[in-house]
Parts: sequence; structure tokens; C-alpha cells
Amino acid sequence: MKYIGLLIGLLLVVMACKPIQKDIRIVEDFNFNWNFKLGDHPEAIQENFNASEWQNLDLPHDWSIEGAFSEDHPTKPEGGALPAGLGWYRKTFSLPINWKNKQVSVEFDGVYRNSEVWINGHYLGKRPYGYISFAYDLSNFLKFGEEKNIISVKVDNSEQPNSRWYTGSGIYRNVRLVATEKLHITHWGTYVTTPKVSKEKASVNLEVTLQNDANSSKTYKIVSTILNAEMLEIAQTTSEETINKNTSKVTSQTFEVLNPTLWNIEKPYLYKIKTTVFENSKLVDNYETPLGIRYFNFDSEKGFSLNGVPTKIHGVCLHHDNGALGAVANYHAIKRKLQIMKDMGVNAIRVSHNPSSVELLQLCDAMGFIVQTEAFDVWKKKKVKADYNLEWDAWHKKDLEDFVKRDRNHPSVMMWSIGNEIREQFDSTGVAITKNLVAIVKSLDKTRPVTCALTENVPEKNFIYQSGALDVLGFNYKHKDYYDFPEKFKGEKIIASESVSALETRGHYDMPSDSIKRWPPAHNEPFDGNDDFTVSAYDQVSAYWGATHEENWKTVKKLNFISGMFIWTGFDYLGEPIPYPYPARSSYFGVVDLAGFPKDVYYMYQSEWTNKPVLHILPHWNWNIGQDVDVWVYYNNADEVELFLNGKSLGTKSKQNDDLHISWRVKFEAGNIKAISRKNGIVVLEKEIHTATSPNTIQLIADKTLIKNDGYDLVYVTVNVLDAKGNLVPKADNLINFAVTGGGKIVGVDNGYQANLSSFKASEIKAYNGKCLVIIQSNGKAEDITLVASSIDNGVMKKTVTIKTK
Ligand code: GAL
Repeated sequence: MKYIGLLIGLLLVVMACKPIQKDIRIVEDFNFNWNFKLGDHPEAIQENFNASEWQNLDLPHDWSIEGAFSEDHPTKPEGGALPAGLGWYRKTFSLPINWKNKQVSVEFDGVYRNSEVWINGHYLGKRPYGYISFAYDLSNFLKFGEEKNIISVKVDNSEQPNSRWYTGSGIYRNVRLVATEKLHITHWGTYVTTPKVSKEKASVNLEVTLQNDANSSKTYKIVSTILNAEMLEIAQTTSEETINKNTSKVTSQTFEVLNPTLWNIEKPYLYKIKTTVFENSKLVDNYETPLGIRYFNFDSEKGFSLNGVPTKIHGVCLHHDNGALGAVANYHAIKRKLQIMKDMGVNAIRVSHNPSSVELLQLCDAMGFIVQTEAFDVWKKKKVKADYNLEWDAWHKKDLEDFVKRDRNHPSVMMWSIGNEIREQFDSTGVAITKNLVAIVKSLDKTRPVTCALTENVPEKNFIYQSGALDVLGFNYKHKDYYDFPEKFKGEKIIASESVSALETRGHYDMPSDSIKRWPPAHNEPFDGNDDFTVSAYDQVSAYWGATHEENWKTVKKLNFISGMFIWTGFDYLGEPIPYPYPARSSYFGVVDLAGFPKDVYYMYQSEWTNKPVLHILPHWNWNIGQDVDVWVYYNNADEVELFLNGKSLGTKSKQNDDLHISWRVKFEAGNIKAISRKNGIVVLEKEIHTATSPNTIQLIADKTLIKNDGYDLVYVTVNVLDAKGNLVPKADNLINFAVTGGGKIVGVDNGYQANLSSFKASEIKAYNGKCLVIIQSNGKAEDITLVASSIDNGVMKKTVTIKTK
């Protein structure tokens, strides 16, 4: 027996030593060097049109985020109070002569919205939905060698309002140029599934769709190889086929992976499948498909399990904007957002309420998140005047199909949501539409459940539920009703698709902290609001349809039949500034603010959803002498916490029953408040907060010391305003000015304050509650980046940080 192992090992080494096949498929970054102009410019489709006066820029690009806030913009504060309108993009490019016989297409990951594309004056088509990915075949219209090609894109986001949140405007996701041979794998041309998975063995199926654009039939060979994460070849399948001219054909291949390493949240192990296509032993195409081997199950009594392990879904809903960068889909920005979530203990993302960027799913695959991805916020019945209802009849089938085809190979994706709080749940038209949408999804992927985020939880009144077509029922809010669900929805699998909707401003505290408030005020626990548009960061305010974080989590935690929950929301986002009117222009719902700074409740989740030791005290320690101050402590991994004010013990407490924090009401004295957590009498952690004096210095914390000089990479630099002893000054609002030299440029500034009207694109910003942020992007030069931050508000404060590039 032992020799068999040795033989397999040797075989693997031999296979791994095979020379690496050079790619024949060409995938080019098509983001650089575009021209852009606001307004309508139909003449821009003409080849001889001169766009040299237009703005020169690189994609991805969101023109809305560059604008000034105003409540008069038709987007309204709900849409972020930023301008939308109409704009044109144009790019001139040339192609090598030897591309003449190739198929060339352009792939857009997302354009908001109503994009229309022309190549050399030829109309390619329109895509109304701003979140869908699409491609056009350019082959019949291209020029090669010296001759120039012109691609022109009209983007029309002028009809408003068309969204309940900030959308951004423009070509805000990546664009690629893809060149293949006439015989090639189609766009999103593979589909991988893992029908049987056990510890010993996984069976893997791959469907490969080939297109023959040549004028003759072809005989070809498809060789697909599974590589493990160490790039060793572990399984291979070869198929030989013939294809007629101008047709496409699907080939199924099967594999066995022995002793597979399963993909899970802690260790998201990724294989990949390399598919190569040969015509008479000449390589004609190559294509890569991600592969994660895992199985999962939703159970009506026990909830969700991943690879047989019961796993509560600790999820967050996320909108697509990246704060100060607007809708721009930047890999590094999305990675930071997800890392902040991961550190909080989040294991799942609900992409609300639209198809995501490609990068978000790639990162969820690689970082270990379960994803509920979602197609629509509306169907035929509108929520706002000019939303997707206008496109429903003509486009929903194509959009839904493309959404599934693009995303079905991601191991992270575990649920398809066909909608959020859809109006049709309230009338009988909901039955037929639901059945139809579920059938569309299932025609392309039967391996994942289809769900929908519902609000109506009276079974007879919910027509989406009545369709009987959903595999998992998603319910938004009304957590007190959960207890009745097993009775009301017998045998159904259930998830809290949206929960909480609590409201907070980082670093702002209203006392007493134990009075719960709901917005709007009509709902008997009044919320009067503050003149400065802040909401208390004690977990004490929520929208009336939701609950505080603690109220909600306590319920979900104890109900095993609820698979888990998605908090509304992980991050603050642009638009929907409930509970305030303008100048509030971004949401208060996040556990983390728009700049990426955690609010205090982040540590409640961390104490519950991670094993790392947590001890977090709030609020800050700058109050009026003698004032009653509520001190809250979030902790875990300890039996008790003792609180000290200026060295005097205020007693020891521990969480009782289902408590998620402990608190003391303390008469304020300047000095320090300190918490010590202990387990079996042994100190686990100590934390203290000192009364701060006036601003004395600024601290710069860069999240990286080295970035790539590729024009994309980002470094996020946090600015903390400190007193002479290094304490954060809790109310500091110094204006901080930034100057950058070398290989970087400022692409955004923010302070997380929901009513801040200064520009995200400026080179200065006021600190808010002691903190602000500057985002620097590589400008492509291979030079060190030097950031100088300075403030003259309290005498001169100045700090410099250097970031290397490679
Ligand atoms: C939900 C809705 C979300 C967001 C949230 C705010 O009903 O699905 O998109 O609007 O309310 O609380």
C-alpha cells in the first residue's frame, strides 16, 4: 500500500513539472486613457470627431462623486445629493495586424446606466441596467495596424430618481478587451459544479461552451486540468469533439478529486480549472475557472451548515459604493471593506440589492465569505419613478440570466436572491413572476437555493411566498415575529435576509444610554434628533421596522431554525440618510462609518462572532465634572470585568442571561476610566481611556507601507488628532490639509460624518470626532510616495509618512 502513495506522489511531481502552457487568449486591461465629457455629444460616435479637448481619465470612473452636494440635485439626499446627468466616454486605440483573424470583444463589468456603445461609428447596443455585466463582439468593425479604432460610450443617468440609494454615474467598473481565435470558449463559457463531495472524494463537473466563428466545421480537443492551490495538477479530462461552422456547443467533462481540501470560511481553499482547446494539436484557447469544493445545506429546524458543520450566518448587507471613491469598483477598496468585516467576525455578505462587481465575489471566494447575491430591488412595480420597473418587461430575463451565468462559478455564492422587498409580494401577480424568475435561475443553476427578501410575513398575504417556488424564505425585520415562523411557515427554511437598521454616528453619545428610540418619532419610543444631525453611538436608536443591534442579535442567536442574519448594514453608504433631511447625505445604518472607522457596536459583534479576546469601553472620557456618564463595556473570553475611575474600583460586573454588554452609571471626574477583564481571576485584558486635553499632534496610520505602482493600488491613511499625551481628542475637528508627492495621488478624503458637505475629492478635510481619512492611489510612477498632513487650527501640527512602491 505504501508504494501506491509513493507512486501517486511521484506522478503528481511529474505532472507538476510539465512546462507551463503559454496563454493564447489575450485579455487586456482597457481602463486607461479615455476621454470624457458631461452632456450629450452624439457627434462623438463619428470617427473624425476630435475629443482631445475632453477630460482625459482612467476607468473605472464615477462622475457623480466628483460633484458638489446639493439638496436640489434630482438624485435627492436619498440618492446621495450628488449630481447625475448624462456623459460620453471615448477611447482611441490601435490593434496589431496579427489580430486580424481573431475574435475581439469588449467586456464591461458595469455602467450606470443606460449605456450605449459604438465602435468606429457602428452601433453595438444598449444596456439599461446599471449593475449588469455585458460584452460586445467588435470583430466585424475593427481596423488593424496603423489605423485607429474609436469606441464611444454614452451613459445616461439623467432620469431621476431611479434608485433608493447612491448609484454613481459612468463606467464605474472595469473594462477589458478580449481577443481569441475563431474557435473559442464563449463569454462566461464554463460552468463548474461539485455534485458529490465527501472527505475522501469530490466529483467535479465542468461544462465548456465553445463557439466556432469560422466558416468551416472544426474538430478539436478540450483538455481541462484541475490545479490545487499549490499549482499542482491533480486531475485532468480530455474530450474530443466536432463543431459545425457558426455554432456553439457544450461539452461536459467530469473529474474526481481525491481527499479534497474543502473550501470554508476559515480556510477558503481554492482550486482552479485550466481549460485548453486544441485544433490539430495547436493551442487555440485557454480559460480559467475558479473551483471551491464545498457543500452546504439549509434546514428548516437546524439552520445552515457548511460541509456538515452547523454554521450561523453572521452576515452584513453591503451596497456597492466605496465611500469617498463613490461607485468606483477598486479591488483594493473592496478588499479593505471586506477585511474590516472579517475582523468583526462577519462570515457572510448579502450584496444588496443588485449584481455586484466581479472583484467582490473574487475576494469573497479568496477571503472566505458566504454570499447571497441579489438581482433586483424592484420588478414591474416601481419604488421610485424611474427605477428598473421601466426596463422590466424588455430586460429582466436577459439581466437575470447574465447575472447567474457570470456568478455561478464562485464557491462563495450560496444563494440567489431574486429580489428585495418586492412590491409584487402584496398582489397576486407576484405568484407568476416568482415562478418565472425561479425557473430562469434554475435553468442555469440548480445547485443553489433561490430566495427573496420578503417583508410580509402573513403567509396568505404574501404572493411571492404563495408561489411555492422559493427554496429559502428571506424575511426582512420584525424580529419579534420570528418565534411564530415554525408554525406559520411549516417545514420552510428561513433566514433573516435583513435585520437591525439601527442608526449611529461614530463618536457621538447621547445619555441616558438605556432609553431606546425609534425613527420616525410617531412610533411611541420617540426620536427627536440632534441639531447637528448626529445619532447616539450607544446602541439605542433604530428605524421602527428594525431593532437595535442587541435586540436583534439576541433573538437570532437563540433561534436555531433561523439560518442567520444580514445586518443592515456593515458599512454606512452614500444616500438614504434616515433619520435626517439634508445636509445629511449618507446613511447612519453602518456598523462601520463611511470612512471605514468602526462604531462602538462593532466590538459587540466582535465579542460575539470571533474568538479573539475583546474588551472595549465607551464613551470617550471628556465630559462635565459631576455629570452622569453611562460607561458600556463589550467583552468576551472572561468571567467578569472590573471598572476603575482614577484608580478607584467601581465594582465588578459580568453579563447576566443574554446580556451583550455591561454598564455603569458614573459621576464624571477627569482622569481615566479603566476596565480589566478576568477569567478565573487571571487578567485577560486591560483597557483605559484618558481625558484628553487640546489637540497637539496628528498621528498618521497608513494601512500599507508598500503599494504596487500599477495605477490601481491604494493606501488608506487614518489621521488621528491627539493631545500632548497621545490621547485621541474626542471632539477635534481640525482642518487637515494633505500634500502628496512621488508615485501617488489623492483620490479621496472623508471623516465619516454623515452631514459633511465638503468634497470627497478635495486635498483637505476637517477631522470629525478626532479622526479623518485620506486615500492615496498609485499614479503609476515607480517612486516613493510622501504624504504630508498638516493643520494650523491649534498651532502648526504636521506629520509625514512615506509609502514605498514596487
Ligand atoms: C429596508 C430596505 C433597505 C433599506 C433599509 C433601511 O427595508 O430593504 O434597502 O432601505 O430598509 O432601513
